[in-house]
Amino acid sequence: MVKAILDPVRSGLRVCAVFYGHPGVFVYPSHRAVEMARKEGFRAWMAPAVSAEDCLFADLGVDPARSGCQSYEATSFLARQRIIDPHTALILWQVGVIGDSSVRDPGTCNKAGLSALMDVLSQTHGPHHQVVVFRAAQWPICRPHIEPVAVADLLQADITALSTLYVPPKENPPRDRQMIDRLGLDDGLHPAGSASERPQ
Ligand SMILES: C[S@@+](CC[C@H](N)C(=O)[O-])C[C@H]1O[C@@H](n2cnc3c(N)ncnc32)[C@H](O)[C@@H]1O
Repeated sequence: MVKAILDPVRSGLRVCAVFYGHPGVFVYPSHRAVEMARKEGFRAWMAPAVSAEDCLFADLGVDPARSGCQSYEATSFLARQRIIDPHTALILWQVGVIGDSSVRDPGTCNKAGLSALMDVLSQTHGPHHQVVVFRAAQWPICRPHIEPVAVADLLQADITALSTLYVPPKENPPRDRQMIDRLGLDDGLHPAGSASERPQ
């Protein structure tokens, strides 16, 4: 793909490469093509766009500022020793193709990989924790696929290569009383005296 983008640039054409979602989110060739074009002396830039994660925030009504937000590619999440915070929202990309680099049929799900993810989430969040399988609508006239399901039931969920998993935080993390006093915050964790803020 990088070659397909750069060859016409090298031959003197003005080139626009279009990727779905945000061109720089979970996309290798876009970043690489811009990097190589610049190294070769061409003017190149990436324009931002709406990613699946942006759709998730809107469709599920989730504000990442509320609990904070961790976002990982699912295979890398499992294969590396990640330290995650169950008090913070977790977004997992590519949950339908865990451990599978072939992606022959985007409509199916790699159950062995999903099963490994269920084991890990059962430990970090518990088997009964409710998560959401999410697929943003691909066409303006369609609705998103939003499927709440317990971690233990994920194998029965409708998961494809286009699914993203949203794992809500378990509960608010414990407060650091010393730090709250030091920062002069009130019980709602806002500067003492600011009346209008929403308590967490
Ligand atoms: C290679 S990444 C591409 C991401 C894309 N560049 C973006 O900005 O959304 C593919 C992964 O993005 C997520 N994804 C793509 N389309 C989606 C959709 N319609 N709804 C939810 N997640 C989607 C899934 O996690 C999928 O496995």
